[in-house]
Amino acid sequence: MPKKMPRPGAVALVTGASSGIGAKTVKALAEIGCRVICAGRSAKRLSPIAKPLGNKGLVFEVDINDEANVAGMIERLPKPWRDIDILVNNAGHDTGGRRRFDEGTAEQWASIIETNVIGLIRITRAVIPGMIARDRGHVVNIGSISGYKPYATGTIYAASKFAVHGFSESLRLDYRNTGVRVTEILPGMVRTGFAMSRWGDGKRAKKFYEDFGTCLNPEDVAATIAFAVQQPPHVVISQLVVVPNSQT
Ligand SMILES: NC(=O)c1ccc[n+]([C@@H]2O[C@H](COP(=O)([O-])OP(=O)(O)OC[C@H]3O[C@@H](n4cnc5c(N)ncnc54)[C@H](OP(=O)(O)O)[C@@H]3O)[C@@H](O)[C@H]2O)c1
Repeated sequence: MPKKMPRPGAVALVTGASSGIGAKTVKALAEIGCRVICAGRSAKRLSPIAKPLGNKGLVFEVDINDEANVAGMIERLPKPWRDIDILVNNAGHDTGGRRRFDEGTAEQWASIIETNVIGLIRITRAVIPGMIARDRGHVVNIGSISGYKPYATGTIYAASKFAVHGFSESLRLDYRNTGVRVTEILPGMVRTGFAMSRWGDGKRAKKFYEDFGTCLNPEDVAATIAFAVQQPPHVVISQLVVVPNSQT
């Protein structure tokens, strides 16, 4: 009989848990028996996400862009929450994106790379030693179809997701034949707070999704994450592409 995954009461940490895919992933992982650390930059934004989970949810403020903040994060967690079984690297943004490369600022471009790539690497580096020591763990990175199929006006976002793609596949190979698994989820268009955070303009964000047509819901992506972490230990969903049926 294959082992039931994840183990009952497994601890999952979801970054960017305050909104969109992250918020729905918290719910989906709780539904399959995980205790979930809802991680993000603002306790105020995370509280409504963690609250329905009762003592199976924990609000945890951490800024993945801050090296010192991330380095000490395991010690800042309450003891029963330190053995992280599942890390969902979801936090990400495209601030200033959807415009030609020369029209954006270096600061905006650097910020996308800082969060989507360096922050993701930083938190993985903080969490993975415990997974190796326990010979048990699953890192789930949220990439994007932009990580293999770029579009015009998406230079830096595509660069960030290409990096997530390469990192994920190489990380998976580093821990091949161990209890540490690595999955990359590559969604197409999902209707979330993402377009709003890109432009800071609710009307424009709404129109963007309406013009696109059918989008995925964040629940659809959360379901693929839950599917990946429920596979028996010898099975690795290395990459999972999920798109709405309208996507080219
Ligand atoms: N929406 C799509 O069409 C789509 C498609 C493919 C992939 N993705 C990926 O899915 C992931 C989640 O995005 P979403 O669509 O759910 O967007 P969202 O609703 O805007 O949520 C993004 C989350 O990331 C965190 N975040 C945003 N900017 C951050 C920053 N500068 N530093 C640290 N954390 C930051 C936010 O948390 P706090 O601000 O509370 O800390 C927020 O909870 C991202 O990695 C995105 O690239 C999205």
